[in-house]
Amino acid sequence: MQVHLINHPLIQHKLSLIRDIRTGTKEFREILEEIATLMAYEITRDLPLEDVEIETPVSKCHCKMLAGKKLGVVPILRAGLGMVNGVLRLIPAAKVGHVGLYRDPESLQPVEYYCKLPTDVEERDFIVIDPMLATGGSSAAAIALLKRHGAKNIKLMCLVAAPEGINLVNEQHPDVGIYTAAVDLKLNEHGYIIPGLGDAGDRIFGTK
Ligand code: PRP
Ligand code: URA
Repeated sequence: MQVHLINHPLIQHKLSLIRDIRTGTKEFREILEEIATLMAYEITRDLPLEDVEIETPVSKCHCKMLAGKKLGVVPILRAGLGMVNGVLRLIPAAKVGHVGLYRDPESLQPVEYYCKLPTDVEERDFIVIDPMLATGGSSAAAIALLKRHGAKNIKLMCLVAAPEGINLVNEQHPDVGIYTAAVDLKLNEHGYIIPGLGDAGDRIFGTK
């Protein structure tokens, strides 16, 4: 099972702030973006480096720079959009794809309504972004879609995960590492994460 809990104190603190029912849309958005940047720092920890020679004002030296691996980030609409800019702050050269999925309220099954990916999917490593991993249906479907387009190396970045969602993604995509700031207790009868933070899309965009 590939679950990476990113529980840096700053992330835990900020996550508690946005779980709070009293936190309004503006603050929720700002803090979610900050958390995404902090999580991106951890997710990119294994990016390959190459040796370079640099001339400082004092002397030449051998240093390391990113080897220029091609990256793509794919937010799952809508709520994934709330984390994209935070990730791009650290990896600004990444291309951005979009996958639109909503969860049918009765069946809880994901319904695809949009897909636009970079043209060179086969050449890129991807980070799929969705703050909520509940039943796991949406994330698993987005990952399957990327794989159908030729992606081979995919990580899943979420904020709050339920054990049910972790298990589903692991079953369907054992090659995909899940990076989350919290593993919560369980789902309620409507498929909401307990304690979770409510409906992420609604809290980001101020809808109901
Ligand atoms: C939410 C959330 C995830 C999904 C998680 O999206 O942003 O995409 O539910 O649930 P799952 O793991 O059970 O699939 P929602 O369907 O509410 O759409 P929205 O982001 O457009 O509000
Ligand atoms: N989607 C959300 O936005 N929140 C949940 O708790 C579950 C699914």
